[in-house]
Amino acid sequence: MRLFQQKGNCQACHGWSGDGNKTDSQMPDGANLRETKLNRAGLLMIVKCGKLNSQMPAFDKFAYSDGRCYGKKQADLKAYPTRMPDPPATLQPREIELIADFMMAKIIGKGPMDRAKCIEFWGSETDACKTFSK
Ligand code: HEC
Repeated sequence: MRLFQQKGNCQACHGWSGDGNKTDSQMPDGANLRETKLNRAGLLMIVKCGKLNSQMPAFDKFAYSDGRCYGKKQADLKAYPTRMPDPPATLQPREIELIADFMMAKIIGKGPMDRAKCIEFWGSETDACKTFSK
């Protein structure tokens, strides 16, 4: 959770609960991760490699240095009208695994956030949960 909210700053574009309600209005609109159809392998891939021709950044430091991502290198990325932004920080493979596990456990397929889920999510009644009437 710390990696999602802080180091990876996924919340800036995807919202703290992953619902696409971004916490930073200056950032691109991220997908609603609560409704994603991706499995764990798909999640790992997209966090490591980003999504070509979109504003989802690649978090693997070597993503486009050796062809490990979609067989592409840095120079190939120029062909896409939408350039992936630089990630807030690069993440180690182990950290990306942890983020995928966190999303599987707390975000994906969990339905819309509500008060009870919010308290469960944060482990206590935080300010964020006060915005839910039920
Ligand atoms: C700069 C904004 C930004 C940041 C930071 C960001 N994302 Fe994204 N993300 C996007 C956008 C935009 C998309 C949608 C791309 C598209 O399909 O057009 C996306 C898509 C995704 C998808 C694919 C969803 C699907 O169903 O196709 C996943 C998974 C994802 N992001 C996870 C993450 C995680 C985990 C982090 C943090 C490690 C993160 N993102 C950080 C902008 C961001």
